[in-house]
Amino acid sequence: MLSQITDIDKMYAGMKEKLSHIVPDVELRIKAELAVEINKLKKERNAVILGHNYMEAALFNSIPDFVGDSLELSRKAAQTDKDIIVFCGVKFMGETAKILNPSKKVLLPSNKAGCSLAESITAADVRALKQRFPGVPVVTYVNTYADVKAESDICCTSGNAKKVVESLNADKIIFLPDEYLAGNIARETGKKIIFPKRGTWDVGRETDFQMLGWSGRCEVHDQFTVKDIETVRAQFPDVLILAHPECSPEVTAASDYSSSTTAMIRYVQETNAPQYLILTECSMGDNIAAANPDKEMLRLCMVRCPHMNTITMEDTLNALKYDRYIIDVPEEIRVRAERAVRRMIEIG
Ligand code: 13P
Ligand code: SF4
Repeated sequence: MLSQITDIDKMYAGMKEKLSHIVPDVELRIKAELAVEINKLKKERNAVILGHNYMEAALFNSIPDFVGDSLELSRKAAQTDKDIIVFCGVKFMGETAKILNPSKKVLLPSNKAGCSLAESITAADVRALKQRFPGVPVVTYVNTYADVKAESDICCTSGNAKKVVESLNADKIIFLPDEYLAGNIARETGKKIIFPKRGTWDVGRETDFQMLGWSGRCEVHDQFTVKDIETVRAQFPDVLILAHPECSPEVTAASDYSSSTTAMIRYVQETNAPQYLILTECSMGDNIAAANPDKEMLRLCMVRCPHMNTITMEDTLNALKYDRYIIDVPEEIRVRAERAVRRMIEIG
């Protein structure tokens, strides 16, 4: 009993050191108790906890063995020798872990953690596009479900999309399903991009393109506008603005930097500006502020990811206690999806 109290005190002190300017004390104490219980169970069950950069500050700074962006966490999922992978992220991330490490039990703490991008396209849509444009390689963003990955030649994340597209050396590429990420990559690589009619795979007679996109959007990043950027710059003239590439090409063009969540974290660490504005899920602003107490972070917290925010420490504890929610991918789909994901990981 005495050592339990000591563990909680130690955890509380560690969290307070990092988070006292972000999370009120009363909450920290409760979260520290939860963290100790989760870490104890994690050890007993021989589990690893992976935490995406969007996790809320108390969770992010207490229970994950590894934190990172989609690409980094895919790599960790592939490498782990633990029996259980608890993925504090959304369903497509849990599926990617299962695809790469099928003998492990993969748990997602919430069964409501979806993603508007993953919902925007089906495997049948991809098959129809491939039929319309036979032989054109299909690049699929990892923010898709396993059956869509299974129809793809190679996956990409926001951190390696440009590299993946360039690695193919192809005249034409089908790039799915994020309209904005595709638009941003087309601009960076100087490729002509076209889109089928919204929500369909119908491109009419059009065949003059180098990239063919899809009309999926992230419901979170879609909300940031150039007007937001102008308004913030008017108030803070020297602010550095970072936008995730799931933001529209207009928004990324009006920002100072755009890349994956981890690359944005690194960019703040390595630069020196009076203020930073991060156009992405608000919790990541908290996590950067915690790691860089000397930097002033602005965030537009009216924009939140409703899926990432369903992952709580209470749910993570219950995931380990009750083995929920188990992520399964049918083997026939998994093997085909694995090919596309591993091909991406090899590229880096
Ligand atoms: P990252 O791969 O940059 O971590 O992004 C994942 C995501 O879902 C962003 O909304
Ligand atoms: Fe999906 Fe957007 Fe949420 Fe990322 S922020 S998980 S892309 S809905």
